[in-house]
Amino acid sequence: MNGKITVLLILLAGMAILLGTAGYLLPEHKKNTDRYYFQNSAGAVLFDHQFHTEQAEECAVCHHPLLLSSEKNECSMCHDPEMSPEYFEHADLIEIPGHSCVTCHAVSDSRSPQNCRSCHQKGNTSGQLIISCDNCHDDSYNPESFSHDDLVDIHEASCEGCHNARGTDEAYHQQCNRCHRKEAEDRFVVKNEIQCNMCHLK
Ligand code: HEC
Ligand code: HEC
Ligand code: HEC
Ligand code: HEC
Ligand code: HEC
Ligand code: HEC
Ligand code: HEC
Ligand code: HEC
Repeated sequence: MNGKITVLLILLAGMAILLGTAGYLLPEHKKNTDRYYFQNSAGAVLFDHQFHTEQAEECAVCHHPLLLSSEKNECSMCHDPEMSPEYFEHADLIEIPGHSCVTCHAVSDSRSPQNCRSCHQKGNTSGQLIISCDNCHDDSYNPESFSHDDLVDIHEASCEGCHNARGTDEAYHQQCNRCHRKEAEDRFVVKNEIQCNMCHLK
C-alpha cells in the first residue's frame, strides 16, 4: 500500500513538474509560433508566419522598424545614373513592382522584430500621420537635416511623439495586400478587387 502511494505521489509530482514547465513555456512559444490565428468580426485570419518568412527577402519587409538604418542604396545602383528619388513621392516608390523596403534601405539589426499591435492599435487613427517638429521645438528643426535613425535615437525610440500610427486593420490590409497584388495576383485579385475570403474564413 505504501508502495502504491509512493508511486502515485511520484506520478503526481512528475505531472505537476511537466504542467508547470509547460505553463511556463507556453506564452513564449505562442509568440514564436509558426501560425497566427487572428480572431475578428470579419472572419478569423490564419497567417502562416514560417511560410511567409520564406516568401520575403528580409524580415524587414514586414517588420519595418528594423529598417531604420541611415544607409540607403542609391537608385543608380540598379538604374541609369539619371534616376533620382526627387522625382517621386515616397509612397509611390513603395508601389513600384520590383521594389520593397529592403531594395533601398539597409537593414539595421540593432532593433528586433516586434508585434505590429504594439504600435498599430485598434480603432481611430484619423488625423495627420506625421506630427510636425514645431509641435515641441521652438528651433526651426527640419526633418530633412536628420536621418530617421538619428531622430529615433535622439527621441529614445518612442515613435508616438512624431507619428500617429494607422490602425491595425489598415496596417495589415495595406502591407499584406500590397505584396499579394504583386506576388500572388492570380489567387488574391479578381477584376482588380482583393478577395476578402482568401484571408477571412467564414
Ligand atoms: C509577411 C510578413 C512577415 C515576415 C516576412 C516576417 N514576419 Fe514576423 N510577424 C509578422 C506578423 C503579421 C506577426 C504577428 C504580429 C501580430 O500578432 O500583430 C509577426 C510576429 C513576429 C514575432 C512575434 C512578435 C511578438 O512580440 O509577438 C517575431 C519575434 C517575429 N515575427 C520575427 C520575425 C523574424 C525574425 C522574421 C524574419 C526571419 C519575420 N518575423 C518575418 C509578419 C512577418
Ligand atoms: C536594388 C536595385 C534597385 C534599386 C536600388 C532601385 N531600383 Fe527601381 N527598379 C528595380 C527593379 C528590379 C525594377 C523593376 C524592373 C522591371 O520590372 O522591369 C525597378 C523599377 C523601377 C521603376 C519602374 C520603371 C522602370 O524604369 O522600370 C522606377 C520608376 C524605379 N524603379 C525608380 C527607382 C528609384 C527612384 C530608386 C531610388 C530611390 C530606385 N528605383 C532604386 C531595382 C532597383
Ligand atoms: C525605391 C526606393 C525606396 C523604397 C522602395 C523605400 N524607400 Fe524609404 N526612402 C527612400 C529614399 C530615397 C528616402 C529619402 C528621401 C525621402 O525622404 O523621400 C527614403 C526615406 C525613408 C524614411 C525617412 C527617413 C530616412 O531615413 O531618410 C523612412 C522612415 C523610410 N524611407 C521607410 C521606408 C519603408 C518602411 C519602406 C517600405 C514600406 C520604404 N521606405 C521603401 C527610398 C525608398
Ligand atoms: C515600433 C512601432 C511599430 C511596429 C512594431 C510596427 N509599425 Fe508599422 N508603422 C509604424 C509607424 C510609426 C508608421 C508610420 C506612420 C504610419 O504610416 O502609420 C508605420 C507605418 C506602417 C505602414 C504604412 C507605411 C507602409 O509601409 O506602407 C504599414 C502598412 C505598417 N506600418 C504595417 C505594419 C505591420 C504589418 C507591422 C507588423 C509586422 C508593423 N507595421 C509594425 C510603427 C510600427
Ligand atoms: C512630441 C514632441 C517632439 C516632437 C514632435 C519632436 N521632438 Fe525633438 N525632442 C523632443 C524632446 C522632449 C527632446 C529632448 C530629448 C532629450 O534631451 O532627452 C528632443 C530633442 C531633439 C533634438 C536634440 C537637441 C535638442 O534640441 O534638444 C533634436 C535635434 C530634435 N529633437 C529634432 C527633432 C526633429 C527634427 C523633429 C521633427 C522631425 C522633432 N525633434 C520632433 C520632443 C519632440
Ligand atoms: C523625431 C520624429 C520622429 C520619430 C521619433 C520617429 N519618426 Fe518615423 N518619420 C518621421 C518623419 C519626419 C518621417 C517622414 C520622413 C520622410 O518621408 O522623409 C518619418 C517616416 C517614417 C516611416 C515611413 C512612412 C511612409 O509612409 O513612408 C515609417 C515606417 C516610420 N517613420 C516609422 C517610425 C518608427 C517605427 C518610429 C519609432 C521607432 C519612428 N518612426 C520614430 C519622424 C519621426
Ligand atoms: C512578401 C510578400 C507577402 C506578404 C507581405 C504577405 N504575403 Fe501572404 N502570401 C504571399 C505569397 C507569395 C502567398 C502564396 C500564394 C500562392 O500560393 O499562390 C501568400 C499566401 C497567403 C495566404 C493563402 C494561403 C493559402 O494558400 O490558402 C494567406 C491567408 C496569406 N498569405 C495571408 C497573409 C497575411 C495575413 C499577411 C499580412 C500579415 C500576408 N499574407 C502578407 C506573400 C505575402
Ligand atoms: C491578406 C489577408 C486579408 C485580406 C485579403 C483581407 N483582410 Fe481584412 N483583415 C486581415 C487582418 C490580418 C485583419 C486584422 C485582424 C485582427 O485585428 O486580428 C483584418 C481585419 C479586418 C476587419 C476588422 C475586423 C474587426 O474585428 O475589427 C475588417 C472589417 C476587414 N478586415 C474586412 C476586410 C474586407 C472587406 C476585405 C476584402 C476587401 C478584407 N478584409 C481582406 C486580413 C485580410
